Amino acid sequence: MRNLVYYIASTIDGFIAGPDGADPTGPDGFWPIPEDYIQHLVAEYPETLPGQARAALSVTAEGTHFDTVLEGRRTYEIGLHAGTTNAYPHLRHLVFSRTLTESPDPAVELIAEDPVATVRELKKEEGKDIWLIGGGELAGALYSEIDTLIVKLSPMTIGTGVPLFSDKAGFDPRTWDLTDHTVLNSGALFLTYSRRTA
Ligand SMILES: NC(=O)c1ccc[n+]([C@@H]2O[C@H](COP(=O)([O-])OP(=O)(O)OC[C@H]3O[C@@H](n4cnc5c(N)ncnc54)[C@H](OP(=O)(O)O)[C@@H]3O)[C@@H](O)[C@H]2O)c1
Repeated sequence: MRNLVYYIASTIDGFIAGPDGADPTGPDGFWPIPEDYIQHLVAEYPETLPGQARAALSVTAEGTHFDTVLEGRRTYEIGLHAGTTNAYPHLRHLVFSRTLTESPDPAVELIAEDPVATVRELKKEEGKDIWLIGGGELAGALYSEIDTLIVKLSPMTIGTGVPLFSDKAGFDPRTWDLTDHTVLNSGALFLTYSRRTA
């Protein structure tokens, strides 16, 4: 059975974006992306780079982690408003929304049903792991289903913003085993945790 992996960039204080819900790494963003961070993504997680970035960096590698990406509507619309109907054409791309009625892209599947039920069905399929890109609201709804966390921890605090999980997660303490880590010279950490089941 394949895993649901919340692979997410976070500040030290647990935020994935600023309070305005914009793209923190975009042209007007506040989130620095150092060169060694990009190189690590290219080497280890090439499938998580958007199609435009893959083209700009001449990345063609399929990647070993994911073949499917799950996105909340607000995160998806950041790319949409920037003119990209499908930022991940190299992956199966599902967007969760109860308000969008027609998919802006034939390769993007709109899902209005319960994300938990959808994920449980996806996990039964053959394939690589499933990447939960976020944002925080969708991650909160899927909190119970997450098997692996890959936190890309940036050496930054922002005080307030969009949290790693919305309050949809509810109060549900879980413990995680650190299974891998990478420390970059720029100060970012890539921390891989598996959910402790016993
Ligand atoms: N740091 C990172 O790596 C990273 C990654 C991704 C996103 N982000 C940031 O996260 C922010 C957006 O996050 P967000 O929490 O505001 O929004 P989000 O999770 O991206 O999207 C929320 C929307 O997803 C849909 N949704 C959520 N739960 C659902 C459910 N149970 N059933 C069906 N649809 C559901 C709803 O769409 P409808 O309202 O249409 O029903 C909801 O309004 C942005 O600032 C983005 O830049 C950061």
